[in-house]
Amino acid sequence: MSDTATASDSAVEQTLPYYEPVGSECALFEQAYQQRLPLLLKGPTGCGKTRFVSHMAAKLGRPLFTVSCHDDLTAADLTGRYLLQGGETRWVDGPLTRAVREGGICYLDEVVEARKDVTVVLHPLTDDRRLLPLERTGELLEAPDDFMLVVSYNPGYQHILKSLKPSTRQRFVAMSFDFPPPKAECEIVARESGLAYDRCAALVNLASRLRAMKGQDLEEGVSTRLLVYCATLIAAGMPILEATQATLVEPLSDDQDVQEGLLESIKATFG
Ligand SMILES: Nc1ncnc2c1ncn2[C@@H]1O[C@H](COP(=O)(O)OP(=O)(O)O)[C@@H](O)[C@H]1O
Ligand SMILES: [Mg+2]
Repeated sequence: MSDTATASDSAVEQTLPYYEPVGSECALFEQAYQQRLPLLLKGPTGCGKTRFVSHMAAKLGRPLFTVSCHDDLTAADLTGRYLLQGGETRWVDGPLTRAVREGGICYLDEVVEARKDVTVVLHPLTDDRRLLPLERTGELLEAPDDFMLVVSYNPGYQHILKSLKPSTRQRFVAMSFDFPPPKAECEIVARESGLAYDRCAALVNLASRLRAMKGQDLEEGVSTRLLVYCATLIAAGMPILEATQATLVEPLSDDQDVQEGLLESIKATFG
């Protein structure tokens, strides 16, 4: 490889959204994309799923269509609908349809939140037919090779009624995400916040202690996202106890006793 090639490769690397790999997830994503298989990401909130998908979309050079699913989201929100525009009704593609037409990556975040009729649209797209029927326009779109469907959900806080049905989940290649191992997490927090690595290491250390309290009273452990917030506030000059209270205590629980438990742990570390 010539020097110029190396230089331009690293230029490309630098323009990608920053993502710190924690295992072989990048290779698995690339394989799934190349083999035209849909991908399911599972894991707690704030552990890097969304960042991972934007990194991979940029790396593969595909446009990304992200949809945050919620309980009012219907199939039409994904596929499209007729809208009145300047006295005329015109069909407007939804994000899923655009991804299929343009050959992009459609990422449905928290897919279990969406209405049931969404799975009806996803099923023909996630088997080897890779079809998107648009009933309203009478079209039957065949997904091109560079289309990919990625969905995510957080198994931690699913209501039984709201987990994915086996008939849906067994259509995906799946991978589990968790909080990054300490070294990677220090790297991430330092890079995202600009706070010195050693000081980030102390926060990551604290996080592992707080995460150990999960289950007793806490629904979910402190996320990497919150650690980044905490380090960002400290880097901007906020005293540590204030920053930790605002990012590692208040967002995690409303319960006074639980908050005090968390604070105790924090004071034992930084007190
Ligand atoms: N592996 C990682 N590489 C880079 N940043 C990360 C990573 N994991 C977490 N982050 C940081 O945590 C934040 C939250 O991650 P995000 O992808 O939004 O979480 P999720 O989609 O899983 O809820 C990101 O904005 C980023 O700052
Ligand atoms: Mg996300």
